[in-house]
Amino acid sequence: MANILTPAVEKYLAEVVPPRDAVVADMERYAREHNVPIIGPECGRLLYLLTQISGAKRIFEMGSAIGYSAVWFARAAGPQAEVYFTDSDPKNVDLAKENFRKAGLTDRVHILLGDAVELIDTVSGEFDIILIDVFKRQYPAALKKSLPRLKHGGLVIADNVLWSGKVTEPAKDDDTRGVVEFNKMVYSSSELFPVIVPLRDGVAVCCKA
Ligand SMILES: C[S@@+](CC[C@H](N)C(=O)[O-])C[C@H]1O[C@@H](n2cnc3c(N)ncnc32)[C@H](O)[C@@H]1O
Repeated sequence: MANILTPAVEKYLAEVVPPRDAVVADMERYAREHNVPIIGPECGRLLYLLTQISGAKRIFEMGSAIGYSAVWFARAAGPQAEVYFTDSDPKNVDLAKENFRKAGLTDRVHILLGDAVELIDTVSGEFDIILIDVFKRQYPAALKKSLPRLKHGGLVIADNVLWSGKVTEPAKDDDTRGVVEFNKMVYSSSELFPVIVPLRDGVAVCCKA
């Protein structure tokens, strides 16, 4: 629970979402049992929708954990998908590889291990979508790196931008400060048109002019 919506509304939204296939359901079960903070099916569907309506193919994820959001992106973008998975934890990379294999998506995903904010420099070309889901204190740096790498009309999407509601109070830690700064940056950017969708823990969807 992100404590943004009322518990009753969160429960409703979780229950109204249709069941997922076995691979995705297994990833959700693993995440629940091992406290992996995945984006979840409600936001997964938002990623899927945004990918399909924008026709995105080239997608860079900053912070991919066990590959859950990457599976939603890779499926939505179809056989031409080029999804870049990044995570700093080698154990997550191993789990994600296995998940992509089970999902039949291995050939759509490039796996990179290390700091996503630096790894983006190792991949050339523009991206259609960049997902920011790393440690929250890194959000401003991640945004600065992402903007020049995004095509015009592309999307920067960031999860947890309401940070369990902590954005409404004076920030007491670096992660909250990172999210607050990130939100200020996107709304004051002349290049971006952002909307914060208050789904789950808050998702920022920002289109580059
Ligand atoms: C919130 S989880 C990502 C969830 C994933 N986007 C999903 O919804 O399936 C954040 C992940 O980012 C990784 N991480 C945090 N900071 C990172 C960084 N600077 N570079 C690469 N990975 C990072 C963590 O190891 C963790 O697995």
